[in-house]
Amino acid sequence: MAHEKTLILVKPDAVQRGIAGQVIDRLERTGLRIAGMKLLQISEELAAEHYGEHVGKPFYPGLVEFITSGPVVAICLAGPNAISISRKVMGTTNPAAAAAGTVRGDLALDIGRNVIHGSANEADAAREVGLYFNDDELLDYTRAIDGWVVE
Ligand code: RTP
Ligand code: MG
Repeated sequence: MAHEKTLILVKPDAVQRGIAGQVIDRLERTGLRIAGMKLLQISEELAAEHYGEHVGKPFYPGLVEFITSGPVVAICLAGPNAISISRKVMGTTNPAAAAAGTVRGDLALDIGRNVIHGSANEADAAREVGLYFNDDELLDYTRAIDGWVVE
């Protein structure tokens, strides 16, 4: 069982729509632990670093405009298989194809307003967590429920 950290963004559309709490609740219910959380507005520079893999793609300018358009909630989730578990809760990138029961399947309609970001793999997760959090902003703590979540 891989103990992992992943970077989640509750995107500006979710904050503006007042559904940030619902999105966080769905992730928290998995049992994954919140290691770090903050509200921030992403700068052009941070957006370019975060989405560097998409530079040059047709949707890139709109993506940067959107992700910098208002506050996001950045969250570092920790726990067994945190990356793949979070991606499963999120659903596929395009809400039109995302399964019912997922964040994007239930709460979104459009790929350009898809409510949530989650790191895609371990290398991206390490890089992205480092973009949003200093080491002293990530808290290592145990919860009384931990023994009821992981054997
Ligand atoms: P994310 O990075 O936001 O978690 O989403 P993802 O891995 O599921 O999707 P990715 O391929 O990394 O794309 C990043 C974000 O770019 C926007 N996008 N728009 N119009 C389009 O064809 C298109 N493709 C991607 C989405 O907001 C996607 O989440
Ligand atoms: Mg991605």
